Amino acid sequence: MKIGVLTGGGDSSAINTAIRAIVKRAEKDGHNVLGIHDGWAGLVENRLSPLKEEDITNILYRGGTILGTSRTNPFKISGGVDKVVSTVKANDLEAIVAIGGDDTIGVAHKLNKLPQPIPAIGVPQTIDNDIAGTDYAIGFDTAMATATEAIERIHTTAESHHRIIVVEVMGRDAGHIALESGIAGGADIILIPEEPIDIKDVSARLKAMQTKGKRFAIVVVAEGATLSGGEQVVRTKKTDMFGHAMLGGIAEYLSEELAKNTGMETRFTILGHLQRGGNPTAFDRLIATRLGFGAIELVNQKKWDYMVCIQGNKVIFVSLDNALQVKPVDKKLYELAKKFD
Ligand code: F6P
Repeated sequence: MKIGVLTGGGDSSAINTAIRAIVKRAEKDGHNVLGIHDGWAGLVENRLSPLKEEDITNILYRGGTILGTSRTNPFKISGGVDKVVSTVKANDLEAIVAIGGDDTIGVAHKLNKLPQPIPAIGVPQTIDNDIAGTDYAIGFDTAMATATEAIERIHTTAESHHRIIVVEVMGRDAGHIALESGIAGGADIILIPEEPIDIKDVSARLKAMQTKGKRFAIVVVAEGATLSGGEQVVRTKKTDMFGHAMLGGIAEYLSEELAKNTGMETRFTILGHLQRGGNPTAFDRLIATRLGFGAIELVNQKKWDYMVCIQGNKVIFVSLDNALQVKPVDKKLYELAKKFD
């Protein structure tokens, strides 16, 4: 078969590991692979090139994506879907493997539902790890390790200066990075999109810590966390082609409010895209390799409109009808985290 592979949405570490696994397994199984450049933009604009063994040498451990990425949504471009259809025909593509988050794979899902369906499958990749069908998305473990190290490093300076430092991590709809790196890095308070922030309550918890003699604190907040009134604090009104706000800014707001309410000196740090860069952890490489192999298994079985997932440490296939909802954090883990202030 002729298979097109694309990477869309926010990048992360270990995408290249997945591309390598896909190409290796596809070649073994007698398929031809074409790399689609810059996500769905490559199909709208007919930008593809062959992906062969020589293209994937030494990419196992390299961050980013050799294919490039974008947040292009063909369903939001006039004539976009028709252009995708004609690129698929012009290149004789028989299958598309879309590596990305819910937006990127959501486009694959919609293409499968066209009157003349385009056979496509999904491979979950997002540092946010918020895709319901899978326990792990590619990139999450590396982002978590980076955030954990940053939170750990913030401790010494927070302690020396007797400050509250608010660390903002990524996480649009769910707080997986905040919760897991917060626990692993020793945060005192963790704030996530799943539970609106009650500033009075956070301030009271910090004051109680002060009373017990703790003269510094680390607050970790996910960028998508909302205030108790439901509003999101962002520095810009810009949105992407999927209608998502460009997040970032809640840490600065919290830092100011907490200084007023607690009388302590505060600072904030936004980790931002640092969490998406760098070489992948061994765990991410393993996940990406297993998911990449699984993707070609899906193609071999012609199981279109499915996503290859990890559940209970097994590679399984989940229909895109059910796989793409937001996966919230584990409530028990969140309750555990609340006991550390
Ligand atoms: O989609 C993953 C993500 O990392 C979100 O947490 C974040 O809001 C977004 O990407 C930022 O992406 P960019 O700045 O690259 O558009």
